[in-house]
Amino acid sequence: MRTSKSKLAELLAITEKLNHVKDLDSLLDNILYEARKFTSADAGTIFLVEGDKLKFSYFQNDTLDKKNPTINQFIYSIFEVPIDEKSIAGYVALSGKPLIINNVYEIENDVPYSFNPYFDNIFEYKTVSTLTVPLITSRQNVVGVMQIINALDEEGNITPFDDDDKMFVTFFANNASVAIERAKMTREMVLRMIKMAELRDPKETGNHVNRVAAYTIEIYERLAKKKNTPLSEIKKTKDALRIAAMLHDVGKVAISDTILKKKGKLTDEEFKIMKLHTVYGARLFKNSMSEMDIISREIALNHHEKWDGSGYPGYIDNIFSDEIKFGKSKKGEEIPLFARIVALADVYDALISERVYKSEWNEEEAKNYILSQKGKHFDPEVVDAFFEIYDVILAIRKKYSD
Ligand code: C2E
Ligand code: SIN
Ligand code: SIN
Ligand code: FE
Ligand code: FE
Repeated sequence: MRTSKSKLAELLAITEKLNHVKDLDSLLDNILYEARKFTSADAGTIFLVEGDKLKFSYFQNDTLDKKNPTINQFIYSIFEVPIDEKSIAGYVALSGKPLIINNVYEIENDVPYSFNPYFDNIFEYKTVSTLTVPLITSRQNVVGVMQIINALDEEGNITPFDDDDKMFVTFFANNASVAIERAKMTREMVLRMIKMAELRDPKETGNHVNRVAAYTIEIYERLAKKKNTPLSEIKKTKDALRIAAMLHDVGKVAISDTILKKKGKLTDEEFKIMKLHTVYGARLFKNSMSEMDIISREIALNHHEKWDGSGYPGYIDNIFSDEIKFGKSKKGEEIPLFARIVALADVYDALISERVYKSEWNEEEAKNYILSQKGKHFDPEVVDAFFEIYDVILAIRKKYSD
């Protein structure tokens, strides 16, 4: 048994860590993970306030993870509840107070809320004990609700949450809320930057960028798990990778409209200029040594290299020189892994989308193309991972559809 004092020290360390996470999804992932670790809970959910609703935003479940490793697709499903007294999450958001329930299937009828067995039924899971806490910032702004599910004792039996759990998770939730608010602001800033790039290319929407980023981190996670990469490293990488993937084409801001918005096929001369968007993008991240900048630079520069060595821009002596000379193309593992993943994610999404210069391809055509380019344009292992999580890919498309 840990003492309260060491628990408190641990909490402060986690809080400090959360304050450095910039990406919202990674942050929610971390918050839920730490809160569950703290209370030895099997599962958990985070709802975020959006308008007058609570939107289902994050979900973890060890039991279901073991049964079905691609359960991730659920993160991308769309589910929301109104903020009212009828649901447990709504009640907690309204009251602003934490709530312990020992068995959700035995709630007395002297309370206004009841348990919604929707998820239990879909996933054949049995929710028993819950601890539901509001996510409130220091300025009393409710940003969401976190629900921790099924506390487990040392033998793995489900037990109720206790007052200690409630106290610590509430403290933790208050600090986490500030981080959530900040991460939402960072995401808005990045999206604004991307909008600027996109304004120039009207057929490419924010959804394209969101989809490419989501495919990328899911493929990465699949590959990393196969290689037994530690979970803590996967989480940290996903954080930076999502934003870096969103910015893969940010160098297009420097390409003239006559080329970018051209309805038909580019001439050789125009395509030569277009190819420079890789170098222009990389320049934007040249000065910083933060992990996010390093990954962003790698992706911007290398996302059009091809596994068989026929891509661009290849090795370049100095990306800042006035006359960029494309060098010998990179090949195979000379291309950074993150760029190999974005290459597939970007092309798949470009194919299924309408562009000023092409109409959209159907599902089968896009899949066949990706498969036909295995070992040519794309890293074969990345292609395999992509097809292994194809149900997740489809869920992402559904969530971010134009
Ligand atoms: P993008 O539209 O985001 O496309 C990204 C990549 O997806 C392309 O890189 C290419 O590998 C793949 N892709 C897109 N559409 C098709 C297609 O119809 N068939 C096949 N086989 N692959 C496709 P790529 O070729 O290096 O082009 C980079 C960027 O240059 C494109 O980004 C787009 O912005 C621009 N671009 C390429 N070709 C044309 C064109 O003919 N007209 C115009 N206006 N822009 C073009
Ligand atoms: C685009 O123009 O490709 C979208 C914006 C971006 O990825 O920077
Ligand atoms: C293209 O349409 O630009 C060619 C795409 C490819 O080689 O993958
Ligand atoms: Fe590109
Ligand atoms: Fe793109």
